[in-house]
Amino acid sequence: MDFSLTDLLARRQPGYSLERPFYTDPDIYQQDLDQIFYREWLFAIPAAQLTKTGAFARLQIGAYNVILVKGADGEIRGFHNSCRHRGSVLCHNNSGQVAKLVCPYHQWTYELDGRLLWARDMGPDFDASKHNLRAIHVRDLCGLIYICLADEAPDFEPFAQLARPYLEVHDLHRAKVAYSSSIVENGNWKLVWENNRECYHCGGSHPALCRSFPLDPEVGGVTADGGASPRLQAHFDRCEAAGAPAQFALAGQGQYRLARMPLQEGAVSYTMDGKPAVKRQLGRVGVPDAGSLLVFHYPTTWNHFLPDHSLTFRVTPISPTQTEVTTWWLVDRDAVEGVDYDMKRLTEVWIATNDEDREIVEWNQQGINSPAYTPGPYSPEQESGVIQFVDWYANHMERALGSRAVAAE
Ligand code: FES
Ligand SMILES: [Fe+2]
Repeated sequence: MDFSLTDLLARRQPGYSLERPFYTDPDIYQQDLDQIFYREWLFAIPAAQLTKTGAFARLQIGAYNVILVKGADGEIRGFHNSCRHRGSVLCHNNSGQVAKLVCPYHQWTYELDGRLLWARDMGPDFDASKHNLRAIHVRDLCGLIYICLADEAPDFEPFAQLARPYLEVHDLHRAKVAYSSSIVENGNWKLVWENNRECYHCGGSHPALCRSFPLDPEVGGVTADGGASPRLQAHFDRCEAAGAPAQFALAGQGQYRLARMPLQEGAVSYTMDGKPAVKRQLGRVGVPDAGSLLVFHYPTTWNHFLPDHSLTFRVTPISPTQTEVTTWWLVDRDAVEGVDYDMKRLTEVWIATNDEDREIVEWNQQGINSPAYTPGPYSPEQESGVIQFVDWYANHMERALGSRAVAAE
């Protein structure tokens, strides 16, 4: 690398997109993994994905491969997907259901809570209790499963305490996964986020979403002083009076934001006609036009919690120029397809929107790949959310690299 990340961060022009290496360079990508994805709390799956004992889901985060498994006690635990014998991958499939975790290589057999139960012919001195699966940190926040790969996880409680009242009214523990999709966007993970954090592009790109989602930049953005317009404040107040926390909250040094934002006039859900997608509501939001509780938590998730259903998204980097975006559509577990909701009606707006976003992120990446690319200015009116994301990223990296330099002295 003929430049250092520290130098690039130091000469960054605030309010401008980043220099090309941030979106293309393998070394900076590795730093993103090391300093962010391997250290921070990451949204993994909705708890509703693992309904039965022994159900598991596999995730790849950079070099790490992990599994989340539902135990007989109902708890979801996470483990490195690597056998304690000679390290083989334990679960080959991305999801499934097992009675025990059995390594396919020599059949070492683990309990769903990670304890090694059985290992053949290991001699009289072998201590099974020293060879349990290596656990990762897991938290279940109101039905959202977060993980952390670091040995010592950052404190999860500040986010959990802030988010819990907003989330509780959505009853995600009652959810079932109606549908999920995973797409690969040929773009750097930061471009996926930059695109997500503005609606400057929505009018030109998202005909279906724009039937319900407002173009008002205040909805997706952040104001300099954290304040809300009188119209927005009136919406927050109306929701809160009905027991649905709504007030704009940005915390964790900008890592997460919550706000219950109004949709277009007359729209209550992300459908082509703006009417509800699901008759049997998931949650207890008593205001039909409460809009969408918008939550983002860098670096892996944005969410839309509506009065009738919820949507949760996961961003997983694959390479410097590839990112997986997974979407879950959550409905009440008693909602019946064909009776309470129609699958196409429920999913069509965001399936289209995701694909439109994939395309514009890929065009963005392709343009940046050219040596002719130079950082350009963000719109202060329309792209305050992007500025906020990039500032968070740069500040996080500066702090991480600074503390690493201090530790090395
Ligand atoms: S590597 Fe798993 S049993 Fe041998
Ligand atoms: Fe978009």
